[in-house]
Amino acid sequence: MAILKIARMGQPVLLQPALPVENPGDADIRRLVADMIETMEDARGIGLAAPQVHVSLQVMVFRVPAARVSGEAEDTPTGTVVLINPTVEAIGEESRLRWEGCLSIPGLRGAVPRPWRVRYRGVDCDGQVIERVASGLHAGVVQHEFDHLAGILYPMRMQDLSRFGFNEELERAASPGAPSSGSPSGGAS
Ligand code: NI
Repeated sequence: MAILKIARMGQPVLLQPALPVENPGDADIRRLVADMIETMEDARGIGLAAPQVHVSLQVMVFRVPAARVSGEAEDTPTGTVVLINPTVEAIGEESRLRWEGCLSIPGLRGAVPRPWRVRYRGVDCDGQVIERVASGLHAGVVQHEFDHLAGILYPMRMQDLSRFGFNEELERAASPGAPSSGSPSGGAS
């Protein structure tokens, strides 16, 4: 296993649509997934997509800590999830602004409008189909990683750039005791 170098915004690989994986069980893909998990954990992120480690393939990993589940029906905490060749579809019309950070845009955070509830589907390295419904942070991280596979970074989704800034400044400006959904705290991906 190895900790991989994370591409930062400005690297062309982050704007390139990733290719589907032909054989998710290949040794190369298993090694990539293991390295991506190690890299995500080392960076204290909650998600990572292969283009962020300079590999333009449709592979993502993420984890939803138990403390961060939305409480909505069917939205459960996950261990580390490996999703290859994923699809994501919005459920319902509701969209909300949530703060997001990105390991490829270190130190910054922005409020991004996203569908609140999604269904995602993909396979893991054993070819097992993973299909889940997610809300809140869980839905947000899946959409953020899915965007990486399409060459989209979260600032490209933002409608109000006045809610984009450095973590330290946003945290200093946030009023004490503000609810966590409105504060810029949380993991990057
Ligand atoms: Ni990201």
